[in-house]
Amino acid sequence: MQARQNLKTIKNFCLFPESIKPIIRSPLFYVGDKFKLLKEILKHFPTQIATFVEPFVGGGSVFLNVEAQKFLLNDIDSYIIALHQFLCSQAENPQFFFENLENLIQKYGFSYSYQKDVVPEKLKKLYPKTYYAHYNKKAYQALKSDFNQSSQKDMLQLYLLLIYGFNRMLRFNTKGEFNLPVGNVDFNENVWQALNDYFEVIQQKEIQWFNLDYQDFLAQISLSPADFLYFDPPYLITFSEYNKLWGEIQEKNLIKTLNDLHQRGLRFAVSNVVSYKGRENTIFKEWAKNFKIIPIKSNYISYHDNSIKQFEEVLVCNYEKSSS
Ligand SMILES: C[S@@+](CC[C@H](N)C(=O)[O-])C[C@H]1O[C@@H](n2cnc3c(N)ncnc32)[C@H](O)[C@@H]1O
Repeated sequence: MQARQNLKTIKNFCLFPESIKPIIRSPLFYVGDKFKLLKEILKHFPTQIATFVEPFVGGGSVFLNVEAQKFLLNDIDSYIIALHQFLCSQAENPQFFFENLENLIQKYGFSYSYQKDVVPEKLKKLYPKTYYAHYNKKAYQALKSDFNQSSQKDMLQLYLLLIYGFNRMLRFNTKGEFNLPVGNVDFNENVWQALNDYFEVIQQKEIQWFNLDYQDFLAQISLSPADFLYFDPPYLITFSEYNKLWGEIQEKNLIKTLNDLHQRGLRFAVSNVVSYKGRENTIFKEWAKNFKIIPIKSNYISYHDNSIKQFEEVLVCNYEKSSS
């Protein structure tokens, strides 16, 4: 019932003018997501979009906040696409989803601060900054082991591994086993809100999901000048799980792809980091000089040291907003 009431609130928000429409956060809480930068980024997007295309959709923070007639969304990570598809399949009946989720939380004995603070004061005093990690450690190990042992991968289990896991990430070893440790996080009000927002918004969108390398994806779809592509690729000079397989060759191929789209008269915007900790992405910087470069103010949380570093991020657009 509470979930239903919340959906009504979100609907009311959506009736407000574009300028004060709240930005929705994806319930996948993807590392490096664009949530905090969306206000800045979205104002440079075209106002009229027939099909919105995201070749590197990740957690989906961007498409969730874009209006278009149709959405073509892709990522090479099969688990991230499977999680999106799973959540989409639950959108019509959030109550059923939350019941199953709560049953799983109870079965394994996780904390659930959204509903009740169950962590003993003694544990909080002993570990003032990491008590969730201590409280949930056993439950997390049990869930991880069940998930890894089952041949049919349960997406609700994987979603809980993400929510209670280290840095809210997905990571698998070479044997295909999920291998992150417990995080100092919990299922709280923010998670609940993000899930409800996702369920609400997703129902108003016509979406096709793809799980391909972005070049194969682009080769499969037909595009027209009324469409718009947003690229948020792995960044050449920063560290993240998904940046590991991205090198200079991949960066140059991406630039070839972007040049090709430009030649075909298609509109795109691409995010990238051009300098970080003394490193420069000269390949991208040189190429971007041919287009409109918009500096984006951002803070970057590194997977490796968890600290916040200032760095230089840009949005590069191949169209003029006024004529879009
Ligand atoms: C910077 S993240 C995108 C984050 C997203 N904008 C968000 O807000 O959550 C880059 C994404 O590119 C995906 N990726 C990496 N290499 C790819 C490839 N060759 N083709 C398609 N997707 C790829 C990664 O799995 C990752 O999800």
